[in-house]
Amino acid sequence: MILVTGGAGYIGSHAVLALLETGHEVLVLDNLCNSSRLSLDRVALLTGRQPRFIEGDVRDGALLDELFQRWPITAVMHFAGLKAVGESVREPLRYYETNVAGSITLCQAMARAGIFRLVFSSSATVYGESVSMPIREDCPTGIPTNPYGQSKLMAENVLKALADSDPRWSIALLRYFNPIGAHESGLIGEDPNGTPNNLLPYMLQVAVRRQPQLSIYGGDYATHDGTGVRDYIHVMDLAQGHICALERLGRSAGVSVWNLGTGQGYSVLEMVRAFEQITGRALPYRIVARRPGDIAQCWADPSKARVELQWNAERDLHAMLADAWRWQLSNPQGYQHEQAPQAVMVG
Ligand code: NAD
Ligand code: WQD
Repeated sequence: MILVTGGAGYIGSHAVLALLETGHEVLVLDNLCNSSRLSLDRVALLTGRQPRFIEGDVRDGALLDELFQRWPITAVMHFAGLKAVGESVREPLRYYETNVAGSITLCQAMARAGIFRLVFSSSATVYGESVSMPIREDCPTGIPTNPYGQSKLMAENVLKALADSDPRWSIALLRYFNPIGAHESGLIGEDPNGTPNNLLPYMLQVAVRRQPQLSIYGGDYATHDGTGVRDYIHVMDLAQGHICALERLGRSAGVSVWNLGTGQGYSVLEMVRAFEQITGRALPYRIVARRPGDIAQCWADPSKARVELQWNAERDLHAMLADAWRWQLSNPQGYQHEQAPQAVMVG
């Protein structure tokens, strides 16, 4: 059985689906501070299997002890964390406590229970403003410009030191680039709280007129059209990367770092044009000042994961946008719907 912390959230729910489809038993631990348990009901609808769910906090060591004693858990996928960059600047203690101390509490409980296999949600943000593209895993980590990014780098360092101290640990640090999209059914997807910070959720809300227009942060970057370039990756490809990493953990000890990206960068303006084409809707935008802390460009060299995990991002930008749009149209208020929505044809 796999314990999935944060399994009701955006990426976690897609990973739970992939785990169930691969034949794993799953126990989800989530305090629902940024998610709904309806996501897991939808996963059950899709897979015909209900993941077990415990509402609780990853910082609660006694609860973790109880779970590890009660269930035959062999490995942990650790998604639970806080991820809003701006909020992390305003509330640094909450971010460090959840993302760093939460990870430490989890590892302590795992060690007490004799469980040493861990897949950790890291982020390309740990590279900071990398000078050369694409980014390989052996590029030195940089100085993240906000407490969120710092907390991910600190958690990575804690996990590296832990694995160095005890050869029983086998830990995957998965550095995600920019996850977007939704399961192709449109039944599960990203359900941001309040006004979205990230590009695609914001574009989706502009398209359904919940926001008047998109602000493009900066038109004067040293990129081919002046707007920021990122490596967007389909959340189902990301979920599959976790399955591959989990399988690999059974075969190797120590810490391994893998980039999960496509290797292809798209600018904000390219995203806007592709989105307009897929949705058939004009996306009003204006170019405004750069967002503090943003970098010009960032894309992965994913070849290490390709070689070592036999993993490849298979879905292209069209699939990412079409699947996100289907999710948005079927769930205009996210998981606030009581009923499972009707299927929607897109693209
Ligand atoms: P999310 O907010 O949708 O999911 C995180 C889940 O963790 C939520 O369900 C939340 O309720 C839960 N959670 C938060 N604090 C908790 C706690 N103390 N105890 C138990 N549960 C708790 O976010 P996501 O986009 O699915 O991100 C998952 C992980 O991936 C996070 O660790 C995030 O930092 C990391 N990550 C995300 C991105 C991205 O762009 N979405 C990129 C890189 C890394
Ligand atoms: C993408 C591009 C923006 C919104 C963040 C975190 C990172 C990781 C993923 C968790 C950039 C531009 C955005 C908007 C815009 N999360 N943009 N208008 O900043 O690459 O990464 O999410 O680990 O840590 O920093 O993603 O989606 O916010 O931005 O022009 O309204 O879109 O400037 O070029 P980012 P994003």
